[in-house]
Amino acid sequence: MGKQLFLILNFVLLWWWSSITISGSYSQNQTDRLALASFKNAIHEDPFGVLSSWNDSTHHCEWQGVFCSKRHPGRVTSLVLRSQGLEGFLSAHIGNLSFLRVMVLQNNSFHGEIQPQIGNLFQLRNLDLSNNSFRGPIPSNLSHRLNLEILNLIDNQLVWGIHFDLGSLTRLKQLLLSKNSLVGPIPRWIGNLSQLQELSLAENELSGEIPKELSRLKRLILFQLRSNKLTGEVPTGILNVSDLHVFSVSHNQLWGIFLNDVGTASPSLYFLGASYNLFTGMIPSTLTNATGLKNLILLNNNFHGPIPKNLGSLKGLYVIALGLNQLQDDLSFISSLANCSNLKTLGVEWNLIHGSLPRSFSNLSTIKRISMSGNHIKGSLPLALGNLFNLSFLGLIDNFLTDCIPHSIGALSNLQQLHLSRNMFTGEIPSSIGNITSLGLLDLSSNIFQGYIPQSLGNCKQLIELDFSNNNLIGSVPAEIVGLSSLSIALSLANNNLSGSLPLQVGSLKNLGKLDLSYNRLTGLIPASISECLVLERLHLEANSFHGQIPEALRPLRGLKELDLSNNNFSGPIPSFLAELPLLEYLNLSFNQLEGQVLEHGVFLNASSVSIYGNTKLCGGVPSLKLPLCKSSSSKKSSSTKARVIYWVAGTLLCLALLLLCLAIFYHKKKQTTTIASTSLSFENQFLRISYEELLRATNRFSETNSIGKGRYGTVFKGILDGGATVAIKVLNLMQRGALRSFISECRTLGTIRHRNLVKILSVCSGVDFRGNDFKALIYEFMANESLEEWLHLGTIG
Ligand SMILES: *[C@@H]1O[C@H](CO)[C@@H](O)[C@H](O)[C@H]1NC(C)=O
Ligand SMILES: *[C@@H]1O[C@H](CO)[C@@H](O)[C@H](O)[C@H]1NC(C)=O
Ligand SMILES: *[C@@H]1O[C@H](CO)[C@@H](O)[C@H](O)[C@H]1NC(C)=O
Ligand SMILES: *[C@@H]1O[C@H](CO)[C@@H](O)[C@H](O)[C@H]1NC(C)=O
Ligand SMILES: *[C@@H]1O[C@H](CO)[C@@H](O)[C@H](O)[C@H]1NC(C)=O
Ligand SMILES: *[C@@H]1O[C@H](CO)[C@@H](O)[C@H](O)[C@H]1NC(C)=O
Ligand SMILES: *[C@@H]1O[C@H](CO)[C@@H](O)[C@H](O)[C@H]1NC(C)=O
Ligand SMILES: *[C@@H]1O[C@H](CO)[C@@H](O)[C@H](O)[C@H]1NC(C)=O
Ligand SMILES: *[C@@H]1O[C@H](CO)[C@@H](O)[C@H](O)[C@H]1NC(C)=O
Ligand SMILES: *[C@@H]1O[C@H](CO)[C@@H](O)[C@H](O)[C@H]1NC(C)=O
Ligand SMILES: *[C@@H]1O[C@H](CO)[C@@H](O)[C@H](O)[C@H]1NC(C)=O
Ligand SMILES: *[C@@H]1O[C@H](CO)[C@@H](O)[C@H](O)[C@H]1NC(C)=O
Repeated sequence: MGKQLFLILNFVLLWWWSSITISGSYSQNQTDRLALASFKNAIHEDPFGVLSSWNDSTHHCEWQGVFCSKRHPGRVTSLVLRSQGLEGFLSAHIGNLSFLRVMVLQNNSFHGEIQPQIGNLFQLRNLDLSNNSFRGPIPSNLSHRLNLEILNLIDNQLVWGIHFDLGSLTRLKQLLLSKNSLVGPIPRWIGNLSQLQELSLAENELSGEIPKELSRLKRLILFQLRSNKLTGEVPTGILNVSDLHVFSVSHNQLWGIFLNDVGTASPSLYFLGASYNLFTGMIPSTLTNATGLKNLILLNNNFHGPIPKNLGSLKGLYVIALGLNQLQDDLSFISSLANCSNLKTLGVEWNLIHGSLPRSFSNLSTIKRISMSGNHIKGSLPLALGNLFNLSFLGLIDNFLTDCIPHSIGALSNLQQLHLSRNMFTGEIPSSIGNITSLGLLDLSSNIFQGYIPQSLGNCKQLIELDFSNNNLIGSVPAEIVGLSSLSIALSLANNNLSGSLPLQVGSLKNLGKLDLSYNRLTGLIPASISECLVLERLHLEANSFHGQIPEALRPLRGLKELDLSNNNFSGPIPSFLAELPLLEYLNLSFNQLEGQVLEHGVFLNASSVSIYGNTKLCGGVPSLKLPLCKSSSSKKSSSTKARVIYWVAGTLLCLALLLLCLAIFYHKKKQTTTIASTSLSFENQFLRISYEELLRATNRFSETNSIGKGRYGTVFKGILDGGATVAIKVLNLMQRGALRSFISECRTLGTIRHRNLVKILSVCSGVDFRGNDFKALIYEFMANESLEEWLHLGTIG
């Protein structure tokens, strides 16, 4: 018996060995080799050289990414080339690999259509072409690939509908078509794919209703229809699937009551996303049957009624986002959250929540983000607020909160944004806020704060926006605050009772977009250092007691859009540079003691942009201002012949000067192209001057190691300028269609980009490189890794 077994075993081993040696010698069948060769031919970029092993001296079964059959020597069963940066077309000859079971080309840059010959791959089980740039429709004759288990075409540019019938693919487990441009309805036959576990159709333009047939899919794990144009109700029973993990229908136009179904949902459900729809009904307390729930995201619907008191029995909760509904309750549910040891986000903003913050509020020690703005919350902030030491965002705008901010707030050492505006807080602003050095945004506006502005705020070196407007603050503007060079979005102290003069340190606000000190009792001259606030767009000093002439120091502020100096004691003439500020669209000089001639060009041409009332000694200007004529201009007419002579002489001189200038420019240009390429800056004064050569040095000649990312329109390099500053440099690939448009639009929106995304453009380099080609680059302040991805993405919007 044992001997027989031994013989059999021997035999099996022998057979196995021989099969290996046969496959080692390979058959003469060239079909697959030829197909692979033309697959390679259609690829024109191979940055990592993965296809260099695909050469004549090697058998195709040994080519990288190619795997062959043991039983059918020389026949390819798998082709796996993930993340190789391959760029090119998918060859139609791929359809000749008739033994192919697995084809994975994920995360490359294939473009063109998915060849219909792919429908000839009878054995195909796994087709993964995700993260490429395939265009056109999904090939319809895939529907005959009865063995197909995985179809992953996520993140391509596929169009048209899912119009053909894949309903016969009875083995299909994953149908993943997210992030394309598919239109039309979700076909009913999907309900016939009885093995389906993952259905991902998110981020397309699918419309119509969710077919009720989908509730037959009893094996679903992932159900993702986010960001489409679906309407109607969610079919009942769709959540009643024993193993469902992810249910996401956010950002559609779905309506009806569907949450009652959650009561029967599986304990595996951990993501429930239904935000930005028109859902109604209450949040049922049976929700807690879904014991595994981690993310409850129901933002922006019409849910009403109370918040389940037992929510906290879902111990795994990570995100609770119920904002922008009509939930009507007090905050007692918070007590139940004490055991949710993973809770990071709690949002109930813009509902009808009333009552006060329970003391247990300060026991949510893991929480990072609390958002409760726009409710009817009253009472005070808990004294132990400082226990929430993980907190990075606290939003309580538009409530009825009273009393002082507890001193313990200084212990929130991770806090980045504090929004408390439009409440009824009183008392002094606690100086301990200055201990929160991570603070980026501090908004205490529209309350009843009293006393002095704490100087300790000068320690908040990350602060980019500070708003204390509409309070009862007294004392002077602390030099420590106007010395905070990090301030870049806005500094507003408007509508208080501040006195004294504007400190010299205002010149440190080099990145600031908006400075509003209006409606206070400030006096003195405007410091000349204001000329260093080069990116200022809005300057509001109205309703104070500043005096002196309108300072020349405003001349370099070429980005100014709004300038309001009204209701002060400014005197003297209107300086001519005000007419030369290119972006100025609102100028208010009313109620001062200005005198002399009103200019007639620039912003002054448009009477609706300029206000100069209440300055009794002004004259001239465009007629619609209805000012008296100036005396000096009327005396000109008498000596017209004399004037003509003067004009003639001046004109001739001017022509001569222009000629000389042209010659100089011509000579300069020539020098530029023949010797060293230099660069010119399109935004003269506002930015650092950086040349192409300096960029070369900074980035080690744009070396690969300095590259930190690639966007659609260019590459981003990290570099160190001659001065030692670390910057990120986005070099535009001008061959790419749309790149130039992207450059122009980014330049045009310089200011707004900084505001929205907190990325500062330091400079713009636009000129020619050493080869004489056009070269354009944007130079940003270098951001730490965390936010890098976000703004790289920003850089790719065209
Ligand atoms: C190669 O394989 C194909 C498909 O299996 C077959 O039709 C053809 O006859 C084979 N050729 C040779 C030379 O074996
Ligand atoms: C062919 O590929 C093999 C295996 O990768 C490699 O060692 C060899 O250098 C390549 N030959 C040529 C000519 O590229
Ligand atoms: C995608 O491929 C690129 C190489 O082309 C690689 O750098 C990147 O990390 C890949 N992305 C992922 C998520 O694998
Ligand atoms: C491979 O496929 C192409 C296009 O489908 C066809 O024209 C060609 O004859 C095929 N080659 C072989 C060797 O089978
Ligand atoms: C595919 O692209 C998406 C973003 O579009 C990205 O999140 C994902 O990591 C990418 N996957 C791979 C494997 O590259
Ligand atoms: C799929 O379509 C292509 C092109 O229309 C055709 O050559 C091929 O025979 C079709 N395959 C099947 C299985 O229908
Ligand atoms: C789904 O399958 C049933 C039978 O199993 C069949 O009657 C029906 O036509 C199929 N529906 C679709 C849309 O293919
Ligand atoms: C949920 O499934 C159970 C058993 O599978 C069934 O009894 C119940 O009727 C279903 N509920 C709904 C709402 O479909
Ligand atoms: C859901 O929870 C309720 C009480 O909260 C309970 O009565 C019911 O049996 C639970 N249903 C299931 C399916 O577990
Ligand atoms: C938290 O858990 C403890 C122990 O499991 C339990 O006694 C307590 O009642 C729970 N608290 C809440 C608010 O659910
Ligand atoms: C908050 O936590 C403290 C200690 O961690 C505990 O003594 C207190 O009872 C908790 N408060 C509430 C309201 O749960
Ligand atoms: C703030 O920091 C100061 C010292 O820098 C310290 O004395 C004070 O206790 C801190 N306040 C808080 C509330 O942490």
